[in-house]
Amino acid sequence: MRARRALLYMPGDDLHKIHNATTLDVDCVCMDTEDGVAINHKKIARETIAEALRTIDFGRSERLVRINPVGSVFIEDDLRNIIPARPDGIVIPKVKDADQINWVNDQISRYEEQNNWLIGSIILIAIIESAIGIVHLPEIATSSSRLEALIFGAEDLAADIGAERSKSGWEVFYARSALVTYAAAYGLQAIDMVNIDFQDIPALRVQATQGVKMGFSGKQVIHPNQVQPVQEAFTPSDEQISDAQTIVEAFNAHQAEGRGAFAEDGKMIDAPLVKSAQALLERARAAGKI
Ligand code: COA
Ligand code: MG
Repeated sequence: MRARRALLYMPGDDLHKIHNATTLDVDCVCMDTEDGVAINHKKIARETIAEALRTIDFGRSERLVRINPVGSVFIEDDLRNIIPARPDGIVIPKVKDADQINWVNDQISRYEEQNNWLIGSIILIAIIESAIGIVHLPEIATSSSRLEALIFGAEDLAADIGAERSKSGWEVFYARSALVTYAAAYGLQAIDMVNIDFQDIPALRVQATQGVKMGFSGKQVIHPNQVQPVQEAFTPSDEQISDAQTIVEAFNAHQAEGRGAFAEDGKMIDAPLVKSAQALLERARAAGKI
């Protein structure tokens, strides 16, 4: 799967920000039609995004569009305008159950069939940001072969469960951890919460590093200044890569000699550590570091 270390949102009605996003070397550009866009600008946002998809070179960035929630009055117009412009993927917000993903999946399949596009060419990413979404994680995670990642939405989740947001984020920790666990169980990427305090870059680095340590593949960002610190946090360092390579090589050598657990630098190494080392190397490869 491709690297999705930073996923940058911008309001879909703001062409200047869309252009700006293409200069940032960000893994994912996510043009929004949902909560970042005023209700009386939804139409402008759809049209601007469709035009941007047709005319702007996004370089290596993945071209994503966040549509409005399934069941909202906007969704049919969102898909009708956006799918023909062929984004790389659709981000579905406020996902409550598998039916909502299946519904979007079927709509996209219709366009793909009608236009002779490769079936499955447009991928899906689901934002889980309600209590019921967390409860339904197993069915959501297995809903569609298009689904590549789950996103954790902390602000909406807190509002839904009646929690008050704190800097440490302990009040959403269960949901954040559940999301990363279910994503791993079903082979999906997990993309961590936004830090809305976009001027506090040191706090962003701390939160991003926490996300890396929890197992997230990336993080949502809302401002250009957040892109580089987040992509850096989610890229394994040279030292980590070299340590991981040492572990994998030593493990293979010991296996060949018929030995499972062994000691390296005073620490026991066995299968789980090797699996982590292999996952780190996989991330380094996706980020183009190997
Ligand atoms: N994507 C691309 N460019 C962006 C950007 C973004 N998300 N946010 C800001 N910029 C650009 C600005 O247009 C400005 O460009 P300029 O110097 O050429 O004029 C530059 O970066 C500096 O912006 P700044 O003045 O620091 O921020 P702002 O006050 O204009 O905007 C926000 C602050 C929060 C409104 C803005 O960052 C934003 O719109 N973020 C995304 C919001 C969103 O999509 N929310 C929904 C998903 S959670
Ligand atoms: Mg939200």
